[in-house]
Amino acid sequence: MRGWIIYKDSQGLLKQETYEVERLLAAAKEEGIDLQVYSPDQFDLTITREDGKSILIDGQSVELPDFVIPRMGASTTYFALAIIRHLERLGVYCVNSSQSIETVKDKLFAQQILAECNLPTPNTMLVKFPVNIDLVEKQIGFPVVIKTLSGSQGSGVFLSKSKEEFDDLMQLIEAANPQANIILQQFVKSSHGRDLRVLTIGGRAVACMERNSQGKNFKANVSAGGTGKSFPITPEIEWLATQTANVLNLDVAGIDLLFDEQHFKICEANSSPGFEGLEGALGIDVAKEILHFIRIRLGIFDKPEVAEEPCLEAV
Ligand SMILES: Nc1ncnc2c1ncn2[C@@H]1O[C@H](COP(=O)(O)OP(=O)(O)O)[C@@H](O)[C@H]1O
Ligand SMILES: [Mg+2]
Repeated sequence: MRGWIIYKDSQGLLKQETYEVERLLAAAKEEGIDLQVYSPDQFDLTITREDGKSILIDGQSVELPDFVIPRMGASTTYFALAIIRHLERLGVYCVNSSQSIETVKDKLFAQQILAECNLPTPNTMLVKFPVNIDLVEKQIGFPVVIKTLSGSQGSGVFLSKSKEEFDDLMQLIEAANPQANIILQQFVKSSHGRDLRVLTIGGRAVACMERNSQGKNFKANVSAGGTGKSFPITPEIEWLATQTANVLNLDVAGIDLLFDEQHFKICEANSSPGFEGLEGALGIDVAKEILHFIRIRLGIFDKPEVAEEPCLEAV
């Protein structure tokens, strides 16, 4: 079995996903899977009828792999999506699919789909400038969570405690960029500083951890300093996580659930979930679980070692 990881390390605020890529490479080696890492800018696409030769890496035509693991999550660019779409058209299994990556990259779109499926989500609004503060108060209330449409690791998420603070911040954002796409979300109080991260693979909830922020931070992301510990997968958690992955078409997903009194609300779904925290807290081998799933999904099993038939003449 042969696969590619498509991944680009970039300069910026966010923690790089080198841990995940290295773990997948190590697990692939153990499993006898040929896995290579490429960055989107090594690719060239030609739209042609000679499909097999329409993908070049470093200017050379290459043999297509059996599967591709895109690992760019919310920072997947148009170019990277175009590569994934092209590979899908050539019959390569991509986990996750271009369509699901694009859907969950847009947090509002993902919430729209979840709400349409009658799954519990916090009330969410898309900002329109100038912001009608009274309408926000009526529909969502204060404190309010402000999010960039796309983002990860807690970097584009802010809690505005009062109407006055919210007004100031909206004026600042409007002055800086009146075209900014921002969403507002009901603050789920009982989840202050803690949430659940559930990992689903192939329709199963494989692991669940409670994340707790350090200090007063309302965001529980491990990459924002939160710590993780094992949490039991109750039937409710399992159903919410697997339904979310299912309606968003994610074969591998990291689902964030907010504590809503005795129940939960779905915060977001990630198409390329980090698993350093999960492996550390739960002692499970996520990389191997992902590769095993891909093997089952593709039905490519290594030939069992066949013992040599004894030669009759020799007996
Ligand atoms: N509506 C909300 N109510 C309470 N806490 C929230 C809410 N939305 C997000 N959070 C907290 O902020 C964190 C980051 O939000 P999330 O939407 O998952 O962004 P990111 O994609 O950056 O992880 C969550 O893990 C959770 O701890
Ligand atoms: Mg999150």
